[in-house]
Amino acid sequence: MAIRLRQAQPCLWTNPERLEHPPATLEALGRSISLDDTKAAAARLKRFEALLAQVFTELADAKGVVESPLLPAAALKPVLGLQPGQGNLFIKADHRLPVAGSIKARGGMHEVLEFAEQLALKHGLVSQSGDEHAYLALAGTAAREVLGRYQVAVGSTGNLGLSIGVVASALGFKAAVHMSADAKEWKKERLRQRGVLVVEHAGDYERAVAAGRSQAGADPTCHFVDDEQSFSLLLGYSTAALHLQKQLAEQGIVVDAGHPLIVYLPCGVGGAPAGITFGLRQLLGPHVHCFFAEPVQSPCFLVQMLGGQAGLASGSAHPSVYDWGLTNQTEADGLAVPRASLLAAELMAPLLSGGFTVADDTLFAHLVQVLDALGERIEPSAAAGFSGPGMLTGTDAGQAWLRSTGVGEVLPQATHLVWTTGGLLVPDAQYQGFVKRGRDLLAARD
Ligand SMILES: Cc1ncc(COP(=O)(O)O)c(C=O)c1O
Repeated sequence: MAIRLRQAQPCLWTNPERLEHPPATLEALGRSISLDDTKAAAARLKRFEALLAQVFTELADAKGVVESPLLPAAALKPVLGLQPGQGNLFIKADHRLPVAGSIKARGGMHEVLEFAEQLALKHGLVSQSGDEHAYLALAGTAAREVLGRYQVAVGSTGNLGLSIGVVASALGFKAAVHMSADAKEWKKERLRQRGVLVVEHAGDYERAVAAGRSQAGADPTCHFVDDEQSFSLLLGYSTAALHLQKQLAEQGIVVDAGHPLIVYLPCGVGGAPAGITFGLRQLLGPHVHCFFAEPVQSPCFLVQMLGGQAGLASGSAHPSVYDWGLTNQTEADGLAVPRASLLAAELMAPLLSGGFTVADDTLFAHLVQVLDALGERIEPSAAAGFSGPGMLTGTDAGQAWLRSTGVGEVLPQATHLVWTTGGLLVPDAQYQGFVKRGRDLLAARD
């Protein structure tokens, strides 16, 4: 497996450290974290719903709730290599998430709102009791004048920047987004149009984050959203689990020993998929299996789980994909990250079932197949999870995992859930380019 990873060949890793029954409270970066923290984050998002519905017209109908549908995707099973009797297929359609258009929405919003809430309490703009309608005061001129004295900054490959920049500027904050070289021009343009300061960096994601962190560190009125180690972000992402639990129940999808739920999540630095995995495992128990999907040239999470975790106990092993001879070059811009979040890696060691890598060509093929079979528009990063079912059913490593966990015996009743993580805001011209590349690849295969 390590050889294939080094050669940038698609491969599957399964986690020998996974615990069936992890403790309810876990430790990461020296801090405890439990489902109560996820519930507190969900309660915070709820307190802001009325305000969000007022500030963002696209949230008016949803009354300020930022959530995505759970969609049946049986029509895709044949192209993913799922045979009859190998389980049901759904997608969790975060590519449709309003305002930010990606999985980074919940976390980004949560952290900006938590900062706004702290300031609002400190400056007496809202009361401690936090009634939902009291938060509407934050849309008023007095509150905006106070928030306008502060800046929110972030380093991003693009989608976190969109989420933070759009929400921060809508609340009246000054906002600065440090973008890596991979970030797409249209994402920068969209932010500039909303008055967000876009700082471009020639280097990769890690450099953009480091530059943002050090600039913000020098300014006491600046809050830096740290994608590599923020608990607030991670807890915001984790609230998706509470919503998914309701959606599963509404659609009659049972999760138990006879009906495992296998979730495939695209992974960049690891914060978003780790937050969701944390929430799902702690909420739904041992029969949820989460796998992270990464580009063959940017498998930072796999590199961390394979080489880094053991070293961390003794020192500070934090390998990058460059150490493995990989380039970190991928069209999946949201996943172009060279080194994993240590917060995410530490939290995932006992919870994650495994991870796999995907070639860029496969992302484009799946992007087109998703369009043709379901009519859904996703971006390349968001297609990474679609290789998951085939990895489990069609490789030796996958079949060994199915046997050793017992999941293989109940596979006909299993639910495969592919998390589609972005796409809503991709401009049409860009999207048509993705489709053309995918169609050309599929035609060449025929
Ligand atoms: C579309 C998309 N999917 C998945 C991810 C992965 O999230 P994370 O970097 O927190 O692992 C990102 C990150 O920006 C993204 O933009």
